[in-house]
Amino acid sequence: MSSILVGGIGELVTNDSSVGDGSPLGILTDAAVVVSERQVHWVGREADAPAADHRVDVGGRAVIPGFVDSHAHLVFDGDRAGEFAARMAGTRYDGGGIATTVAATRTATDERLRTSLTARIAEMRAQGTTTVEIKSGYGLTTTEEARALRLAREVTPETTFLGAHVVPPGIDRADYVRLVCGEMLTACAPYARWIDVFCEPASPAAFDGDEARVILLAGRGAGLGLRVHGNQLSAGPGVRLAVELGCASVDHCTHLTDADVDALAGGTTVATLLPGVEFSTRSPYPDARRLLDAGVTVALATDCNPGSCYTSSMPLVIALAVREMFMTPAEALSAATVGGAQALGRDDVGVLAPGRNADLTVLDAPSYLHLAYRPGVPLARALTLSGRS
Ligand code: NIG
Ligand code: FE
Repeated sequence: MSSILVGGIGELVTNDSSVGDGSPLGILTDAAVVVSERQVHWVGREADAPAADHRVDVGGRAVIPGFVDSHAHLVFDGDRAGEFAARMAGTRYDGGGIATTVAATRTATDERLRTSLTARIAEMRAQGTTTVEIKSGYGLTTTEEARALRLAREVTPETTFLGAHVVPPGIDRADYVRLVCGEMLTACAPYARWIDVFCEPASPAAFDGDEARVILLAGRGAGLGLRVHGNQLSAGPGVRLAVELGCASVDHCTHLTDADVDALAGGTTVATLLPGVEFSTRSPYPDARRLLDAGVTVALATDCNPGSCYTSSMPLVIALAVREMFMTPAEALSAATVGGAQALGRDDVGVLAPGRNADLTVLDAPSYLHLAYRPGVPLARALTLSGRS
């Protein structure tokens, strides 16, 4: 069993508060990580490191846990740059453009979708992301949703059935909900770990609270974990439904009432904030401070998709969270790593400690602070160790 010592780390963020400076980020200086069999074997000051078979030197750079992007829609064809331009000229985002991507995706071959999906994963890794969740939702027929999840499963275990993205044009709502809960769920569940619903009464094609409840309970019955797109365009029922059902995460949380914040604070559901969406739809940002101050667990993710937010960059999301949502740089980094892991119910990623996955991201900077301090500069990249892709 060959081991690799990653040394020359000027600043190491572990997310393990039992080591280093005692802060939640668990920061060590002049540090090393010993990796064996794709897992962290040892973490500490390099002067104290055990012997290893090989050594990789990062030249004094900062190293952080790889980003955990817990919300992305990466299986699609075409783009909606024109819709973005119209939004920048004043048109409101309402999810209506999803149908355009559905039409384009249905006509794409498996090979074409696989090629663009692989390229998007590579783009994410080149920006420091080592775990990504991928949703279906641009197929909206039994065959097309199952195909999207089969392709997503080739690149990540974190696959989410989002047949309940919108009701396809020309289909009766009640008939579609029955299809999603029946034949479509049966065909998709073997490729999915999660089920998600776009719960948004303010979008005519999305689902109301009663429909979302029926769909989520059907998913639970099929053995899937639950997540919700909630409160993106209005203070709808999504957040409270997600907490009531014990969903792993409710994502967006842009419009929150006092009752929503209280529910999140009293429950186990992670609030996943997606500030790239507010940036790209020119909308007010979620009130992250209110959630954090109430003790809610917050995650940050990209929501990479061709409509509401076509970025794959977790560093951009961190910069927006700090600049626009008043999260501290430490809170934002935590939310983008261990917060995302919690949103996916994972304890093997997001933290660099013995026994965890050796998902290391190197920053071309001396400190994690530079992620927000130097917005738009490509500082982060996932470290590829021998035998890893
Ligand atoms: O998370 N809001 C629903 N779904 C995506 C956007 C999908 C699209 O516009 O293509 C979101 O923002
Ligand atoms: Fe989304």
